[in-house]
Amino acid sequence: MRAIVINEPGDPDVLVPTDVPDPVPGPGEILVDVAATAVNRADLNQRQGNYPPPPGASEYPGLECSGRISALGPGTQDYGWSVGDAVCALLSGGGYAQRVAVPAGQLLPIPEGVGMVEAATLPEVSCTVWSTVFQAGGLSSGETLLVHGGGSGIGTFTIQLARARGAHVIATAGSAEKLARCRELGADVGINYREEDFPSRVREETDGRGADVVLDIMGGSYLDANLRSLATGGRLTIIGLMGGRSAELDLGRMLVKRLSVQATSLRSRPVDEKERIVSGVVANVWPLVEDGTLRPVVDRTFPLTEAAAAHHAMESSGHVGKIALTVASR
Ligand SMILES: NC(=O)c1ccc[n+]([C@@H]2O[C@H](COP(=O)([O-])OP(=O)(O)OC[C@H]3O[C@@H](n4cnc5c(N)ncnc54)[C@H](OP(=O)(O)O)[C@@H]3O)[C@@H](O)[C@H]2O)c1
Repeated sequence: MRAIVINEPGDPDVLVPTDVPDPVPGPGEILVDVAATAVNRADLNQRQGNYPPPPGASEYPGLECSGRISALGPGTQDYGWSVGDAVCALLSGGGYAQRVAVPAGQLLPIPEGVGMVEAATLPEVSCTVWSTVFQAGGLSSGETLLVHGGGSGIGTFTIQLARARGAHVIATAGSAEKLARCRELGADVGINYREEDFPSRVREETDGRGADVVLDIMGGSYLDANLRSLATGGRLTIIGLMGGRSAELDLGRMLVKRLSVQATSLRSRPVDEKERIVSGVVANVWPLVEDGTLRPVVDRTFPLTEAAAAHHAMESSGHVGKIALTVASR
């Protein structure tokens, strides 16, 4: 098969389409012929040598895909999948390829009414947001969520899901255009982080209370400001370190306001945890996709052979939502 191979860390040009052996599904795995995959910010880090695949994962990038099942590995019969089924999948790697072997519990049906390309952009954001904002962060109806990077793949999905579940949503982004898109997707308030002090604005918008949950992609550079944005009993969930990995933590602020801080990576979680997250997504999120409440937001699509151009596009941050890659069959 053809796959995108990273022979050495570097610029997008190191993403080279290469002939490689087909993966063989091991026990508990199902083989998928990939129709489409999507670019995630983590793929950029992997390409630069800063985010190696976890042990046992495919060495090729790609954390999600859609396609059709082409073979069932040993011990997968109880999952109810058949050869030819259209699926999408949460991956630990290997989506930038014509075929990928996936743990059976990480396959999801394609939600009704969603096309193959759009379906490839849903597993990573839906599993990340469901497991962090809702399962770990416990965001409930009537509470306020502050989501950073509202125009990102993660942000555009989070705004829609939080709003659909009855939360008040405040989003940050770096331009008026992105903030307008955030509002269209359901954000109640948009804050341009380049022009405004977001903790002050969050307090203003919540009558001085603050947000109940913050979904953060910046890490170190936003730690203190995020704590200042939280209401008493608030929960900060960190999923990205775009602003660095360390900062001083004001425990006094945490103690007085009874705050909690969690940081999570989906990719490194064990297969059984991912399977539980996937089940939660199919039960709680897929119905909202199927009834049209939640729409996949695909900014643009490139062929897999132009993965380097897709990485350039993500690096320039002009996109809103996801960047997809289509995969030609052999
Ligand atoms: N831990 C996990 O399991 C997990 C899973 C998936 C994703 N993630 C993380 O989630 C983040 C988003 O991923 P993605 O694939 O959705 O990436 P993406 O689409 O490239 O989004 C990155 C966004 O960050 C925004 N941004 C940059 N600086 C900012 C700042 N100071 N304040 C607010 N927003 C800022 C950018 O837009 P503007 O600056 O133009 O507004 C852009 O929209 C990444 O850090 C990724 O690693 C983590």
